[in-house]
Amino acid sequence: MTEKNINYKKASEYWADIPATLDGVLGGFGYISDIDIEGSTLFLKSILALENAPKPGLALDCGAGIGRITKHLLAPLFERVDVIEPDEKFINAISSYVGENKIKIGSLYQTSLQKFVPERKYDIIWNQWVLGYLTDIDLIAYLTCCRDALSKNGVLIVKENVTSSGKIEIDETDSSVTRPLKQYLKIFKLAKLKRIKQSKQTNFPTGIFPVYMFALLPVDPDES
Ligand SMILES: C[S@@+](CC[C@H](N)C(=O)[O-])C[C@H]1O[C@@H](n2cnc3c(N)ncnc32)[C@H](O)[C@@H]1O
Repeated sequence: MTEKNINYKKASEYWADIPATLDGVLGGFGYISDIDIEGSTLFLKSILALENAPKPGLALDCGAGIGRITKHLLAPLFERVDVIEPDEKFINAISSYVGENKIKIGSLYQTSLQKFVPERKYDIIWNQWVLGYLTDIDLIAYLTCCRDALSKNGVLIVKENVTSSGKIEIDETDSSVTRPLKQYLKIFKLAKLKRIKQSKQTNFPTGIFPVYMFALLPVDPDES
């Protein structure tokens, strides 16, 4: 279990010391952002091309940092993007970082995922490189809230590092964990979410964790 490895105060103190830059939010890996966005765009476009596709209406960027995903992925494809980010300096940097697309930014929620209950109105909820900051128990509760916040045909996306060792790996520096694939699958099941698509990000440098994208839908009540 992750409960003993995650300390929310320590994680927020870590992020408070990190500059509001691309390299800052990507831990020195700012140079992988373009490849990451390319992979995410392909994945998201394939979801938007489904027969029962979500509307290109309202997206939610969760643990948004300086708005990298809002700027390059969500604002170009959606009418409006709401943002959740606990760090004050990051949330204050979002509109200038997003630039000309800032007119598409809707509500900015300065809060943590484990405390947030989104309203039921989102066509896409995008979670990337943030779920490792939540304990398993809080993550299951949070994903359950996200599941209930999807509009008709809405889709929940998770894009996260996974371990190759098959075990949870702990990062003491920012008080986060990296989960193995099987742990995510177990958590999705407990949050009553089913996978409709899964892809591994390609073209990332060697030596970093594999990164997976999952598109998730609520399990039908008569399926469970
Ligand atoms: C690695 S950065 C990723 C930012 C963004 N998702 C991206 O891919 O560019 C992690 C972000 O998660 C935020 N964060 C950390 N713990 C969080 C929590 N419990 N709830 C919400 N956001 C959190 C940090 O403030 C930081 O902005």
